Amino acid sequence: MGYFFNLLFVFYNPKSPAILAITKSKPLENQLMKALSLKNKKIVVTGGAGFLGSHLVEELKKEKPASILVPRSKEFDLRKPSAAAKVVKGSDIVIHLAANVGGIGYNQEHPAELFYDNLLMGTHVLHQAYKAGVKKFVGIGTICAYPKYTPVPFKEEDLWNGYPEETNAPYGLAKKMLLVQSQAYQDQYDFPAIYLLPTNLYGPDDNFDPASSHVIPALIRKFVEAQENNAPEVTVWGTGAPTREFLFVEDAARAIVLATKNYNSPEPVNLGSNFEISIAELAHTIGDVVGYTGKIVFDTSKPDGQPRRKIDTSRAEEGFGFVSEVTFPKGLKKTVEWYKKQS
Ligand SMILES: NC(=O)c1ccc[n+]([C@@H]2O[C@H](COP(=O)([O-])OP(=O)(O)OC[C@H]3O[C@@H](n4cnc5c(N)ncnc54)[C@H](OP(=O)(O)O)[C@@H]3O)[C@@H](O)[C@H]2O)c1
Repeated sequence: MGYFFNLLFVFYNPKSPAILAITKSKPLENQLMKALSLKNKKIVVTGGAGFLGSHLVEELKKEKPASILVPRSKEFDLRKPSAAAKVVKGSDIVIHLAANVGGIGYNQEHPAELFYDNLLMGTHVLHQAYKAGVKKFVGIGTICAYPKYTPVPFKEEDLWNGYPEETNAPYGLAKKMLLVQSQAYQDQYDFPAIYLLPTNLYGPDDNFDPASSHVIPALIRKFVEAQENNAPEVTVWGTGAPTREFLFVEDAARAIVLATKNYNSPEPVNLGSNFEISIAELAHTIGDVVGYTGKIVFDTSKPDGQPRRKIDTSRAEEGFGFVSEVTFPKGLKKTVEWYKKQS
């Protein structure tokens, strides 16, 4: 029906903006028709040695590509256009994950670097991928790009309806510019760029460094250490009231591969699990999985971050058939087991 109305719109307004509108609002199920095989393709995964990237590389190997290049920051600082150009040269597909990333404390301490690094990396990698003539560019955004107050569940069409929560705005907005750039290059150059917005991720290989970790690895580490040291209490940042949605990292990697193959629209897509939990409940659940029996205290002098986070995942399901498979208890158990083996 939406497609039909847009056709009429083009008929009565035969100007280029209307033609733009028709490109952007094709029914998502039609996108499935143009599947891209990854077999024998040369794929670049920036940030491919990171938490999400390492799982993505494993998932991509199943598609039997000709090669997967994982550029490391020491050799290729992607904030520099020359490094970005070298990395993407000769590739068929570029999946851009490289980013400066951290939890709420890290975001508070490094807003300038988060803005600068992420904006420059995205800008250069996409521009060089366009110049190199790659067949597909996949940009990875973040749920931190959503407005602080937005109807729940978050829908992609509400992405621009307000300013993000203050602690993650520099990071979220710098990454959101990659969406603007993707759409601009698609409009002007027909450059095949897509943009995905994963919710908070968790799983094995996550960053457990207390200086920069996200909430799940930070809490797992706190509870494991408290249990080992027989600590009487564990302190959790904030009031415990905010909610978050978490997606298991292997599910996120699978979603990115599905989208790379099957999704072609310039419209952004949420990647989530439809699972919402409060920070207080999360702390108690992690405490239980770890086997910690002491007290949990909430430090209300610390920031809460965004009040509520749950995303609408219907576009990913309609657009490329992605539905998360790993339940939260199963994913959490796997993550705790992995961390205990490493520590
Ligand atoms: N983790 C989450 O909960 C989450 C949620 C939503 C979206 N995301 C997005 O998913 C992507 C991956 O996140 P992640 O959690 O996997 O992060 P990560 O583990 O920190 O990995 C990021 C990677 O980026 C690379 N990188 C950083 N600065 C670079 C530079 N100047 N030049 C080249 N490479 C650079 C690093 O490469 P080296 O190892 O070589 O230094 C690192 O491996 C990011 O785009 C992030 O915004 C993550």
